[in-house]
Amino acid sequence: MRLWGGRFESGPADALARLSMSVQFDWRLARYDLLASAAHARVLHRAGLLDDNEVARLLAAIEELSRDCQTGAFRPSAADEDVHTALERGLLERVGSLGGRLRAGRSRNDQVATDLRLYLRDHGRRIIARLAELQTALMDQAERHLAEQTPAPGMTHLQHAQPVLLAHQLLAHVQALARDVSRLRDWDKRAAISPLGSGALAGSSLPLDPEAVAAELGFDAPAANSMDAVADRDFAAEFCFAAALAGVHLSRLGEEVVLWTSHEFGWAEIADAYATGSSIMPQKKNADVAELARGKAGRLIGGLAGLLTTLKGLPLTYNRDLQEDKEPVFDAVDTLLLVLPAMAGLVSTVRFHAERLAGEASTGFALATDLAELLVRRGVPFREAHEVVGHLVVWCQVNDCDLPDVSDEDLAKISPHLTPDVREVLSVTGALAARKAYGGTAPERVAEQIAALRAVVDEHAAWAGS
Ligand code: ARG
Repeated sequence: MRLWGGRFESGPADALARLSMSVQFDWRLARYDLLASAAHARVLHRAGLLDDNEVARLLAAIEELSRDCQTGAFRPSAADEDVHTALERGLLERVGSLGGRLRAGRSRNDQVATDLRLYLRDHGRRIIARLAELQTALMDQAERHLAEQTPAPGMTHLQHAQPVLLAHQLLAHVQALARDVSRLRDWDKRAAISPLGSGALAGSSLPLDPEAVAAELGFDAPAANSMDAVADRDFAAEFCFAAALAGVHLSRLGEEVVLWTSHEFGWAEIADAYATGSSIMPQKKNADVAELARGKAGRLIGGLAGLLTTLKGLPLTYNRDLQEDKEPVFDAVDTLLLVLPAMAGLVSTVRFHAERLAGEASTGFALATDLAELLVRRGVPFREAHEVVGHLVVWCQVNDCDLPDVSDEDLAKISPHLTPDVREVLSVTGALAARKAYGGTAPERVAEQIAALRAVVDEHAAWAGS
């Protein structure tokens, strides 16, 4: 079915119909389109454009159609151009010409912008709920390894830098995901504007009530400018950005998992349920979940870039280009809802090798900074302390030993500042405990960090469920 054609003598060419068609991807807006239709029917009734009997019959038909969509009894046909067309056909089939009265004061332009906002606000909450599950999985691992005080070699440039608590590193990922959640919640405030009542672009001459429709659909307010309302897709682009950045965070976590579970690192082993094998190499256990998390960031970023490119040259107001807004946002939703549960499962079941981590935490002269800072506390200028410890490191490299293994005499030969008691700070436990300023890796700071994050994540999850 088509919603236009009165002024045309011939029907559309097949090539046009195929190009124009969006129902194959926008059908997922059906639920939201019907919600908006029910709200619009009530507004038409209050405006005196539908009598009591008509609005009751229309609302009953919308409800029936909604059930039939859910059960699959009603499906779009090959001739329905988009979701709005298919649903109007569904209404006409149920209540005859009365179904056509719903179009008064409404255009697909304000309708589709409304549907997409409703869909995204709903799915933003679902994504937040899944993000909270991944954060919880990370925090549970962090808590377990805080209790065991499992250290890890903290890295910069992928080189051993300073020892950290494994928990601190895991929580760093939780922090990034917490920003993703707050970004989505912030986005939701701007998405909570209702375009309904804007009509095609200029508003309506009918006595509609945009405030009432907005409130009924859970929006904070109706749009202040009808032209902006039908032309604006900032909410879609911003959503894509929030999704893409979350995808980048998942990718970075995925990359870490790939490294941690490599033979060369040997920090952790993925549970069988979240690992894959090889069709030819029987010994293989691969981190495909983590790799797909990393790989799928590409399509999220691509979706954002594509949508921004679609929007950049558009004059006001609605242009059919805007139909291209849907696939990237739908793909972003699908991708995150696919990746997040898999990553949560992987993280909650991965087994860290605490002994290996403890053994590695101080290798690569990772305690060199602690020694330099000790000298600073004893009054040596940092520049000089840095150089003294640098000499010691070279000495160790030449003599193939670690910092604590150097004899008293050799220490003294390298520098008079290196008295035997400097060895006190050359322990991983000491190095961790010393970093006790706010935000540092000391156990008590990490414990506080977990407690604070638990509260934040609980609040996020509660918001998403509301
Ligand atoms: N399927 C269209 C879209 O997604 C609906 C709006 C059509 N409006 C129009 N003026 N042709 O953008």
